[in-house]
Amino acid sequence: MNIATKKFLIVVVFSIVILTAGVIYFAFSSYNRYRVLQPLEYSHKAHVESAGMKCTDCHFYVDKMASASIPSLEVCQTCHNDEPVSTSPEEVKLLSYVKEGKEIPWRQVYEVPDHVYFSHRRHVIDGELDCSECHGNMAELTKSVSYQAIPMTMKNCLDCHKQRKVTTDCLACHR
Ligand code: HEC
Ligand code: HEC
Ligand code: HEC
Ligand code: HEC
Ligand code: HEC
Repeated sequence: MNIATKKFLIVVVFSIVILTAGVIYFAFSSYNRYRVLQPLEYSHKAHVESAGMKCTDCHFYVDKMASASIPSLEVCQTCHNDEPVSTSPEEVKLLSYVKEGKEIPWRQVYEVPDHVYFSHRRHVIDGELDCSECHGNMAELTKSVSYQAIPMTMKNCLDCHKQRKVTTDCLACHR
């Protein structure tokens, strides 16, 4: 092998390494962006179907304010105190948060950037929309929310606004 071929091979190998690293990095960063790991597996189905609760029993502000809110530990404690009500290991995790009096660090999955204004009350009360129009069928979920079933993109906002003849003025959403 002469020097030129060696140099060529080194460049080729080096490029492949960089390219692979780039692809792996990109795959992981988008994976993390769209899938989040929650502190425990919370089942919407167990509470909405089995325990017969309504969305507003936990998401108190969804029909009153802009933000729906994720319930605090105090809400869980009304039913989960010291004796487990199920055989689930996830409830054991919950009870250890209760025992230590520590809030569960849920990660919010559905979020719009600060330059966008979005009001739940406006959509749920004035617009009479069902939660499932934007969040899918939550009542069937047996695991914690880890990704957006329907992505909160500008395109998805606009598609529905056009369909229902609601404003598409930039300044309605960007204030
Ligand atoms: C009104 C009573 C009530 C409230 C409030 C409540 N739960 Fe439950 N929870 C239940 C019942 C009843 C079950 C058992 C359901 C079953 O076995 O099908 C349960 C089961 C569970 C389980 C184990 C079952 C599973 O499949 O994961 C977890 C974890 C859990 N709850 C977490 C929570 C959290 C977190 C909160 C607060 C945000 C909460 N619960 C609030 C009544 C309640
Ligand atoms: C028109 C679409 C739409 C509808 C209908 C809708 N949501 Fe949302 N939801 C969103 C958007 C957008 C966000 C992100 C909001 C933000 O970042 O301020 C969100 C966020 C949330 C959150 C995260 C916490 C928070 O305070 O923002 C919860 C919980 C939630 N929605 C529950 C509900 C429930 C329960 C209903 C039905 C009663 C509902 N949503 C109906 C679009 C919708
Ligand atoms: C017992 C309390 C409880 C009830 C009842 C309940 N939720 Fe939730 N919800 C939670 C908790 C706790 C979380 C955070 C954990 C998770 O993401 O799964 C959550 C998360 C969510 C989120 C994702 C928020 C985000 O952006 O991370 C949506 C959307 C939502 N709930 C909608 C609903 C709808 C729709 C209903 C009624 C069909 C409902 N919830 C009933 C406790 C409840
Ligand atoms: C599934 C349909 C649907 C989706 C998706 C949706 N909207 Fe809406 N939106 C409506 C309806 C219907 C109204 C009118 C409510 C009323 O009657 O006041 C509305 C009203 C609004 C208003 C008030 C408009 C005004 O005239 O001032 C804003 C702001 C808004 N939406 C923002 C958003 C944003 C931001 C998103 C995406 C994150 C979004 N919407 C997604 C249906 C939707
Ligand atoms: C119905 C609500 C709505 C209307 C109307 C709307 N937007 Fe948006 N816009 C959003 C949401 C939600 C996002 C954030 C999510 C995303 O980037 O898709 C966004 C993001 C953006 C961004 C940032 C994109 C990025 O990549 O970060 C720009 C720029 C923008 N909008 C411009 C406009 C302009 C210009 C108009 C008027 C022609 C407009 N928007 C009308 C909801 C809206």
